[in-house]
Amino acid sequence: MKNILLFASGGGSNVKAILEYFKDNQSVSFPLIITNKAHAGVIEIAKEHQIDVLLINKQIFNEEVFIDTLESYKPDLLVLAGFLWKIPDYMIMAFPNKIINIHPALLPKYGGKGMYGHFVHEAVIANHEKESGITIHFVNEHYDEGTVLLQKSIPVSIDDVPEELAKKVLKLEHEWYAKVIESLLKSS
Ligand code: GAR
Repeated sequence: MKNILLFASGGGSNVKAILEYFKDNQSVSFPLIITNKAHAGVIEIAKEHQIDVLLINKQIFNEEVFIDTLESYKPDLLVLAGFLWKIPDYMIMAFPNKIINIHPALLPKYGGKGMYGHFVHEAVIANHEKESGITIHFVNEHYDEGTVLLQKSIPVSIDDVPEELAKKVLKLEHEWYAKVIESLLKSS
C-alpha cells in the first residue's frame, strides 16, 4: 500500500481530480489532508471522500516535532495541491524527493514567493506571453526551484483574461497531476 499525504488550502479541485483518478486503485491510500485554512473548499471534498483533515497553523508547521505526525502515516509521497506556505527545511530533509508541488506556469518563469494562483495568470497576460502551462516539480529549500518532473504548455490567446487562462491551466493540472503521482509511486 502506498500512502499519500495531500496538502491543500484552496478550492481543492486538484485534490478532487487526484482522488477521482485513484478511486478504484486499492494500492493507493489517502489517509490525511492537511490544510491551513479552516474554510478551504478542500474540506468539503475530504468529507465526501471520508478522509481526515488536519488543520494546521504556522507554529505547528514550523516545529520539527510535526515530523512525528507526518511519519505516523508512513507517507510515500507528500503532494502539495494549492498549498502556499514554504515547506520548512526540516521537512525537506526528512522526506527527500518525496514532496512534490504543482505550479500554474512554466517555471522558472512566474515562480517564487508571491507568485501563486491569479497573480501568476495576471502577470503572464500583462507580459503578453504567447504560452503558459503547468510545472510539476520536486520541492526543495527554494520556492518553486526543485527538479522539474513534468511541464505542459498551452497557448495564451490575445484576448485571454486571467480567469480564462486560470481555467485552461487548471484543466491541464487535473489531467496531469495524478499521472505524475502514479508514475512516481511506480518508481518508488
Ligand atoms: C492551482 O492552480 C495550483 O497550481 C496553484 O493553486 C491552484 C490551486 O487550485 N498553486 C500555486 O499557485 C502554488 N504556487 P485548487 O485548490 O483548485 O487545486
